[in-house]
Amino acid sequence: MAQPPPDVREDDCLPEYHHLFCPDLLQDKVAFITGGGSGIGFRIAEIFMRHGCYTVIASRSLPRVSMAARKLAAATGQRCLPLSLDVRSPLAITAAVEQALKEFGKIDILINCAAGNFLCPAGTLSSNAFKTVMDIDTLGTFNVSRILYEKFFRDHGGVIVNITATLGTRGQVLQVHAGSAKAAVDAMTRHLAVEWGPQNIRVNSLAPGLISGTEGFQRLGGLQAGLNAKVLASPLKRLGNKTEIAHSALFLASPLASYMTGAVLVVDGGSWLTFPNDVGLLADLTSFSAKL
Ligand code: HXC
Ligand code: NAP
Repeated sequence: MAQPPPDVREDDCLPEYHHLFCPDLLQDKVAFITGGGSGIGFRIAEIFMRHGCYTVIASRSLPRVSMAARKLAAATGQRCLPLSLDVRSPLAITAAVEQALKEFGKIDILINCAAGNFLCPAGTLSSNAFKTVMDIDTLGTFNVSRILYEKFFRDHGGVIVNITATLGTRGQVLQVHAGSAKAAVDAMTRHLAVEWGPQNIRVNSLAPGLISGTEGFQRLGGLQAGLNAKVLASPLKRLGNKTEIAHSALFLASPLASYMTGAVLVVDGGSWLTFPNDVGLLADLTSFSAKL
């Protein structure tokens, strides 16, 4: 069985990298990555840049994306433009897309990676808490996709990869908001694939499992004993890492996936098939539902 590629837990670049795909797979392409300043989005930006891509990384915090862009450019020698936006604000997205087009002249790839999540029992989740996650994950994905379509993809084609999750596939405790939001994004992937396919736009979802060294994993309980034991009970008996998710995103964004659209690529070591989901888990994780 293949060993996982090396990774580092922090939002830092890999100290060394061994190419598995052709190093010029994304040569001179431009990728716009929401949530690209941290976690999975940061590693996607790095791996794309190591394959010849220029990147735009965009999230709410300008200091965060600016520091990330400096690290990414230093490690890869490629250009990375950091921009501030909230995916809930169409005006801010429009300004960012226009700035990216001014800087690079084109955008080939959109990675919708921005998201928000926390653990909370459905019975105590406020309407605004549910709405907030729907607004960031689902509406945010639509907003960025629609604006990039209007500004560039409609006339030039493009590739969209939506980062989702398997939470909603079987239903998971404490996650009605995130599971609903990500399931809606998977539906959006299929709708947009059908509607925009004739304009040479491919749209796919990538659904990671639990990924080490990420905010998302911390918010689901991190390395606490109960969750760890359940991870070890999954088919590949381990967490995934950010580089594994980035490699899958690279595949979907590249010509290797030229005939793929409207699909959900699950990259979770098979864990959604077996992950225990009983009320015992609720008891284990309740302490993590405190506001983060
Ligand atoms: C219950 C909560 C809560 C919590 C916030 N709220 N945190 N409710 N438990 N832990 C409620 C608030 O009380 C409020 O409702 C509403 O949500 C909005 O809260 P704000 O703080 O005003 O929202 P905002 O500033 O927009 O921040 C969004 C956020 C925040 C999602 C709440 O945590 C954030 O910015 N997250 C981004 C980073 C992140 O979450 N990364 C992990 C992504 S991982 P009321 O009713 O009081 O007004 C991921 C994994 C998915 O998505 C799958 C894993 C397998
Ligand atoms: P993360 O580091 O917290 O990434 C989320 C990013 O989204 C942050 O960079 C954040 O930056 C940005 N963001 C949040 N709200 C935003 C908004 N309103 N507008 C613009 N940007 C916003 O978490 P992660 O764990 O790496 O998660 C990355 C993606 O993978 C998410 O889509 C998540 O749902 C998915 N996922 C993660 C796991 C996991 O185990 N980690 C599992 C399944 C799916 P700012 O705070 O600067 O805005």
